[in-house]
Amino acid sequence: MPNLRELLHFYAEAGVDTPLEDVPIDRFSQVEVKRAPPAAASSPATEPASTPPERAQTGVASPALAKASVPDDAKIAMARQLAASARSLEELREQLAAFDGCNLKFTAKNLVFADGDPTASIMFVGEAPGREEDLEGVPFIGRSGQLLDRMFAAIGLDRTSVYIANTIPWRPPGNRTPTPLETEICRPFFERQVELANPKLLVALGGPAAKALTNASDGILRLRGKWKSHLTPSGMEIPVMPTLHPAYLLRNAAQKRFAWRDFVSIKMRLRTLTE
Ligand code: URA
Repeated sequence: MPNLRELLHFYAEAGVDTPLEDVPIDRFSQVEVKRAPPAAASSPATEPASTPPERAQTGVASPALAKASVPDDAKIAMARQLAASARSLEELREQLAAFDGCNLKFTAKNLVFADGDPTASIMFVGEAPGREEDLEGVPFIGRSGQLLDRMFAAIGLDRTSVYIANTIPWRPPGNRTPTPLETEICRPFFERQVELANPKLLVALGGPAAKALTNASDGILRLRGKWKSHLTPSGMEIPVMPTLHPAYLLRNAAQKRFAWRDFVSIKMRLRTLTE
């Protein structure tokens, strides 16, 4: 029988690092309740028959479970409709903050919408926030963000001259990969964010961002260093440079030379577009 410390360690390793409720819910007893014959029908019920078991136990409906009954297609359609109706980045942020259709929202501590100058000529896009970003609600402030700041400085940029966002605005629990459904639900918001920011250049940090922006199926090691194009929902084309993610560079320092080449190319293109 593992002790509590080992059990918690096992959960953390498996990505279970955030409680959804203040009070634990015994799902096994709920299954038993469902299976039990409807004897309660003849005796006066203390809870209305439609009260979900989790509400009966905790007094608070789990938002994640409450939304689970909405079909996936409806969540994607709702995301599209909301995103398309946002007329400014501020409105889009408010809509995302109020949107309950993505389960990642219920495990994240904060919405991580953007950092930097939304009117900047260049927009950097990562995949999803990590732990530090989730705690502060600001993208790229952990170790990989600190490396990104140094990469900006190497080509004369900083957080006041760039706009930074992620394809997914909530931290996936335990930093797991977002599921295809989570990605599809967040996509309309992300695409609208790019469209409203309307940068002259985009930089995709890592494979998932490159895929989201260019639809390319190749891996980032093949894609990096070559200019591609992002087509916005309203038909605008924005040049995209796919490059290596700073978290990858922290683990593979020898690859920094490739990122450096990409950043030189970004600097030159930015100069031709802004001078
Ligand atoms: N990695 C990302 O892709 N985005 C962040 O905001 C932080 C780390």
